[in-house]
Amino acid sequence: MDQEKVIVIDFGGQYNQLVARRVRECNVYCEIYSYKIDIEQIKEMNPKGIILTGGPNSCYQEDSPSYQKELFELGIPVLGLCYGAQLMMHKLGGKVITPEVGEYGKTQIHYAENGVLFKDMPQDSICWMSHFDRISEIAPGFENVAWTADCPIAATQNVEKNLYAIQFHPEVLHTVNGTQMIYNFVRGVCGCQGTWRMDSFVENTVKEIREKVGDGKVLLALSGGVDSSVAAGLLSRAIGKQLTCVFVDHGLLRKDEGDEVEAVFGPNGQFDLNFIRVNAQERYYSQLAGVTEPERKRKIIGEEFIRVFEEEAKKIGAVDFLAQGTIYPDVVESGLGGESAVIKSHHNVGGLPDFVDFKEIIEPLRNLFKDEVRKAGLELGIPEKLVFRQPFPGPGLGIRIIGEVTAEKVRIVQDADAIYREEIAKAGLDRSIGQYFAALTNMRSVGVMGDERTYDYAVALRAVNTVDFMTAESAEIPFEVLQTVMSRIINEVKGVNRVFYDLTSKPPGTIEFE
Ligand code: XMP
Repeated sequence: MDQEKVIVIDFGGQYNQLVARRVRECNVYCEIYSYKIDIEQIKEMNPKGIILTGGPNSCYQEDSPSYQKELFELGIPVLGLCYGAQLMMHKLGGKVITPEVGEYGKTQIHYAENGVLFKDMPQDSICWMSHFDRISEIAPGFENVAWTADCPIAATQNVEKNLYAIQFHPEVLHTVNGTQMIYNFVRGVCGCQGTWRMDSFVENTVKEIREKVGDGKVLLALSGGVDSSVAAGLLSRAIGKQLTCVFVDHGLLRKDEGDEVEAVFGPNGQFDLNFIRVNAQERYYSQLAGVTEPERKRKIIGEEFIRVFEEEAKKIGAVDFLAQGTIYPDVVESGLGGESAVIKSHHNVGGLPDFVDFKEIIEPLRNLFKDEVRKAGLELGIPEKLVFRQPFPGPGLGIRIIGEVTAEKVRIVQDADAIYREEIAKAGLDRSIGQYFAALTNMRSVGVMGDERTYDYAVALRAVNTVDFMTAESAEIPFEVLQTVMSRIINEVKGVNRVFYDLTSKPPGTIEFE
């Protein structure tokens, strides 16, 4: 695809993916590379612009991540952020020091009138600072265009050479007008036209898939999650019945989820493909009987999935391609992209099997961020309900039922969760909370209902906000909403007499309970 592109060079900063996302929000395609990328490779890609990210090091120390000076002499516009800004100054003859005080959090800032990246925005504003080191001397040819109380050089520019250095983080939403600054860089300075749009992505990818697949056969494991659903939609548009989707209902899905997936992708749905639903509930429940240890449960669910999938694959016979719903953060986090990589190795990332007889893997969403996957899904006509589905773990309700999994417990947690989701949506909170669900604690306690003594389960409600799922804060849900959920669950779900709301952040907790 001949796409105008900006590259982000990653120096280990925690916001590297955010930078790339902001660029794409400006309709400019963007990829993340480690600072170890060879300059020849950059020249070959000939990006319209380069952004250097933050990072935890001191740029003047010998073994810190660095880049050769030539990067700034390619004639390609460069924007350095935080560490990237310091590195640019350091390499071009300025000076970076480690002062006695750092600057963290929201900070008052003043932008000079001639600051190219600060065009059309108030001169006095708020930015997000997160640094210890700072620039103490500007490199020759640059001018100072922003300052704060503790940081006299908060942004510098060399307009003639198209080099820009910003000490704070425009990619973080706390920086007022931050996205505008990125826009001013990529659309203004770099001259990108803004051709990265989901309608053209879908169109181009459909063409690419057709070329690649020819008249071959493709097999996809459809989980009902956002990624595999959008992958199915794309593939179906490209190759129709050459695609077979196998949907394994392990009986650990949310309430009615299996039927919802079938309604969209099954024979009466809107897509042209071969759809195979395997109802494997009983098989799973019998494998899980008596098992209480979380990792063991995960393992059984994973292995059973492979077995069921394998049986179906055998019936289909050899295929040419195995499709996967891998998305860009999976690629970056598994260490293939940027530097602050290898964040999580758990969770079935990149994890389908080599037991199926296929020649090649096909990953049509490999370059997309989650929000882009959703946009592509809407573009393909996949219902909003499915497209905006929350993250749901592969082992499903199996890890939201503490202790042994039984059909009865699955029913309880499905019903409680459905009520919770319904009330959250009614309160208009469904798109603003990162992830929320009900879990079944293994605790039973005494209660009283009517004139009867009860001895029933406690349901735990969880709701968290998170940027990257590595850390999370419990979400502030209005008390009235929680009360409504509690009373509906207790009245409507047999077997429950208590409801808790989990306030724990991550760390020390995890998002799921097991
Ligand atoms: P934790 O519980 O690790 O969850 O804080 C972080 C995110 O990962 C999801 N999660 C999983 N996803 N297989 C998955 O595919 C798993 O075993 C698994 N465990 C947790 C969880 O839902 C959250 O979004």
